[in-house]
Amino acid sequence: MLLKNIQQLLQIRPAGQAWVAGAAMAELPALDDAYLLTEGDRIAAFGPMSECPQDYAGEVTDCRGRLVLPAWCDSHSHLVYAGDRASEWLDRLRGLSYAEIAARGGGILHSAQLLNATSEDELYAQSRVRLARVLAQGTGALEIKSGYGLTVAGELKMLRVIRRLAAEYPVAIRATFLGAHALPAAYAQDKTAYLRMLTEELLPQIAAEGLADYVDIFCEKNYFDVADTERVLAAGQRFGLAGKIHVNQFTALGGVAAGVAYGARSVDHLEVLEAEDLAALRGSTTMPVALPGCSFFLGIPYTPARRIIDAGLPLALATDYNPGSSPSGNMNFVVSLACTQMKLLPNEAINAATLNGAYAMGLEAELGSITVGKRANLLLTRPVPSLAALPYAFGESSVERVLLSGRWYLC
Ligand code: NIG
Ligand code: FE
Repeated sequence: MLLKNIQQLLQIRPAGQAWVAGAAMAELPALDDAYLLTEGDRIAAFGPMSECPQDYAGEVTDCRGRLVLPAWCDSHSHLVYAGDRASEWLDRLRGLSYAEIAARGGGILHSAQLLNATSEDELYAQSRVRLARVLAQGTGALEIKSGYGLTVAGELKMLRVIRRLAAEYPVAIRATFLGAHALPAAYAQDKTAYLRMLTEELLPQIAAEGLADYVDIFCEKNYFDVADTERVLAAGQRFGLAGKIHVNQFTALGGVAAGVAYGARSVDHLEVLEAEDLAALRGSTTMPVALPGCSFFLGIPYTPARRIIDAGLPLALATDYNPGSSPSGNMNFVVSLACTQMKLLPNEAINAATLNGAYAMGLEAELGSITVGKRANLLLTRPVPSLAALPYAFGESSVERVLLSGRWYLC
């Protein structure tokens, strides 16, 4: 496949660059009037139009007026779920808080009830509709979590559905085991027994079947504390699974430092951020991840992304696509929110939504930048005057076509 006359080819990086941090996030290396050649599912070459191959025999696409970027890398989602929680959202509109809804047995436990009553085939059928939609919106790599089963059967069902999605769709998928998402009613009086079930019964089975790449826990008041987090991260390590944790959404308990100490790949949410959390992240290999769709939908503070970047740290952006706090998997909207609400510059937001997102799910050698040898997962915009037009036109998708594994994705 040959893409020619590309108005601007963006996010060109050398092989081996893992992430972009601090002031460098304001730069997005680009080439005007460019071509890009793919071979099989890989990026084979790119350069100025003056060097474009003349006698190419394969499919040629004229990209005049259009931008080409790496497809979005969404490193945090709960895209596999059953039904929805629109009724709880209506309750929130009438004045109840997310915490009040959870306290009366709603929230994550409500989703778990729905999921356990749904067959694996039906769960797959519901999830693939969401996946097809986010791919059409430009997502080319995606992490998906379990965490709405909260039983052995339910968690395995979710992870098997994730595996099936990964096999059926031309997108890179990473699976995360989030058994410690909430304490199910059956264990309400015995959190230790639940954690023992997760780490001693479920985790070995998940590892044996190769069903997960990461382990996660919701480190939060009324959910799981720092000691629980350390326990789950340590258990993950025993089975070769690094952590990607939910932390500092409503309260800072010290989970960020614990995540860093256990070599977590990412620490996600961070709507509440203390100086100690920033200090813990400095010099680490852990990626901070902001989820502005969740702040938008719940009406909670946005992650102080400027503080993170201005401290010289990297930042990734993800959707948190889930039925309770962010029922949208649209990365275009996330990039726009990051600019309008968190004051990121478009270049910073795009670095956060591509290469840094790829790093946050361990896919930085494979995706997230225009690099020869990486997987050809790209998005082609509509004709736009400049890159800023993408986040500027909030609520719209400027994505015209998506190339996944070297082929146009037809939705
Ligand atoms: O990332 N915070 C915990 N988990 C999800 C929300 C889950 C839900 O409400 O169903 C989140 O926001
Ligand atoms: Fe989440």
